[in-house]
Amino acid sequence: MGSTWGNAIKIFIFGESHGAGIGVVIDGFPSGVPYDEAFVLREMERRAPGRNKQSTQRKEADKPVIQSGIYNGKTTGTPICALIQNTNQHSNDYAALAAQPRPGHADYTGMVRYHGCNDPRGGGHFSGRLTAPLVFAGALCKLWLKTQGVTVGSHIQSIAQIQDMPFDDVDVPVSQLETLRNADYPVNNPRALDAMLAAIEEAREAQDSVGGVIECAAVGLPAGIGSPMLDTVESRLSSILFAVPAVKGVEFGAGFAFAALRGSHANDTLYQDGDTVKTETNNNGGINGGITNGMPLIVRVCIKPTPSISAVQQTLNIQTGKVEPLSIHGRHDPCIVTRAAPVVEAACAVALADLLREANGYA
Ligand SMILES: Cc1cc2nc3c(=O)[nH]c(=O)nc-3n(C[C@H](O)[C@H](O)[C@H](O)COP(=O)(O)O)c2cc1C
Repeated sequence: MGSTWGNAIKIFIFGESHGAGIGVVIDGFPSGVPYDEAFVLREMERRAPGRNKQSTQRKEADKPVIQSGIYNGKTTGTPICALIQNTNQHSNDYAALAAQPRPGHADYTGMVRYHGCNDPRGGGHFSGRLTAPLVFAGALCKLWLKTQGVTVGSHIQSIAQIQDMPFDDVDVPVSQLETLRNADYPVNNPRALDAMLAAIEEAREAQDSVGGVIECAAVGLPAGIGSPMLDTVESRLSSILFAVPAVKGVEFGAGFAFAALRGSHANDTLYQDGDTVKTETNNNGGINGGITNGMPLIVRVCIKPTPSISAVQQTLNIQTGKVEPLSIHGRHDPCIVTRAAPVVEAACAVALADLLREANGYA
């Protein structure tokens, strides 16, 4: 399997990039949550292709059509199903890939795993398009999390070598997360954005692609959510973050930078602030022993360069058994990072809603 995720809130994602449509079923979602359609559509739009020069020209409305689970403007508590039609397929762009799997993509592994029966058009079930239903599920989870005082948001930490200003990990204001959510490109330092866009443009002109890092924060989480050892908050978040195609690394708090720190600098000193226990630093990214400590949860996600590039590459022709040149046609982002930010937020929102519901006794 591999299409179902979650304990208390389960999501089931289905579809192929060039099939009739894609969608999601969400089971275990709380009843009575007002369905804010404008909010959900804005989340879908943030991920949708064709919104700017940096993005693929595959233009699709990505409008979720609700089949069940929402009635009189509120969630019913029974399974929510949303369908998104595919309307802008160019399947001929992919005809050559049946014989020549794209390097870095899932054409070869998908073919082996499904004994050649997979739908390869547009990457089939492995396409970035399958993140649209995840964004829908994440938008609903964000709506419920909001009622619990939890906000999830993100910014582009880097593209290629260019860095944005990181979050202040001990104090991430909700207003900052909302400003980022409404921006065309979520960055804290607008000057970094110009350099990022230039790097994307340079990659496009070179018929190449670039990757980057998304930093995501969740604020308002109570201390005490999650479990130790085999079911930690880190493992639950990582497991759904790695569901996002092109994610190749996940780190919490100081992450890999811990390796160069001494304990005296790495440890976060606890103190009392009114009714709340806080830490002076937040190197542990809001998690100790797999359990939230009440500080902002900070996770960074590495997105690799788009595998489909228009520069000629060498790859195996599985019909001739020879390595031959491959030219990839079709519409591909020279950088996925800008579109992946809302997807990373959605994955975090689904995981945190699931963990919170479970902590409330609903598993
Ligand atoms: C929002 C989004 C859009 C994507 N668009 C493309 C694309 O246009 N072309 C492409 O080759 N890969 C794209 N990808 C990445 C591939 O789907 C992914 O690299 C591929 O399925 C292989 O999986 P892996 O990189 O996780 O190993 C996209 C990923 C995301 C999250």
